[in-house]
Amino acid sequence: MITPTQKLSLGSRQLDDMLGGGLVKGSAVLVSGAPGVGKTTFGLQFLTAGFKAGQRGLLVSFEEFPASLIRDAQQLGWDLKTMEQRGDLGIIFTSPQVFLESLKQQSGPIAEKIQALKPDRMVLDSVAHFQQFTQNSIELREIYNILINAVKRQDITALLLDEAANILQAQGKPVAALPFLVDAVILLRYVEVDSSMKRAMAVMKMRGSNHQKEIRSFEIKPGGLVLGPPFTGQAGILSGMSHRIA
Ligand SMILES: Nc1ncnc2c1ncn2[C@@H]1O[C@H](COP(=O)(O)OP(=O)(O)OP(=O)(O)O)[C@@H](O)[C@H]1O
Ligand SMILES: [Mg+2]
Repeated sequence: MITPTQKLSLGSRQLDDMLGGGLVKGSAVLVSGAPGVGKTTFGLQFLTAGFKAGQRGLLVSFEEFPASLIRDAQQLGWDLKTMEQRGDLGIIFTSPQVFLESLKQQSGPIAEKIQALKPDRMVLDSVAHFQQFTQNSIELREIYNILINAVKRQDITALLLDEAANILQAQGKPVAALPFLVDAVILLRYVEVDSSMKRAMAVMKMRGSNHQKEIRSFEIKPGGLVLGPPFTGQAGILSGMSHRIA
């Protein structure tokens, strides 16, 4: 008998539908996007949807202090402080070096915190910091493998946030390895449509899932990302410079 794949909700019916029912349990998902497009918000939405489903979450941040994350989340209607006090959320603010070392050794305070929390969901903000370690694409691939294997070993569904203005530009650089290694890739982009900036989302790949192929507009509102209609009658959306088609 084939066991149905367990999917994890993003807390929004529209988002779940776009992702073919949610994120596949135990998968590593790359969320790639430009500065300020909504990567951290998407990550927080994923974690808070988990709390509603009785799942624990871990937020690993290399850039934003926990206090500022908690404050920004509050603006969006999410009470991270209470979740942390309840033991549903763990926030780790560290350097990429220390975090990677703890994954390699599988010991030390960070590893112990993860083992004690036993998170179902994890957000890493952001994997872009690992790129500073090396220019060598084989070494970088090894670092990504350590990360992905660590989350898979613990059956954690992980959102790996990445900074990329345009994933197409990443080709030829070592960063290009990550989209191949992960199970799913979600692109968050800014696009210029009719002289205004809009946010767009596309699912580039999702192993083992029949996700939607449309490029959808989205807005950030209290409660998280709200999907709008697909960009109809426009081409070139993923290049950031759209143009009308007949
Ligand atoms: N309460 C809010 N209501 C509406 N929009 C908001 C709210 N809070 C944040 N935003 C929007 O979300 C954007 C920032 O989102 P977020 O921090 O998730 O982006 P990011 O991709 O993680 O950015 P960075 O690359 O700086 O890490 C802001 O620039 C703003 O446009
Ligand atoms: Mg961010």
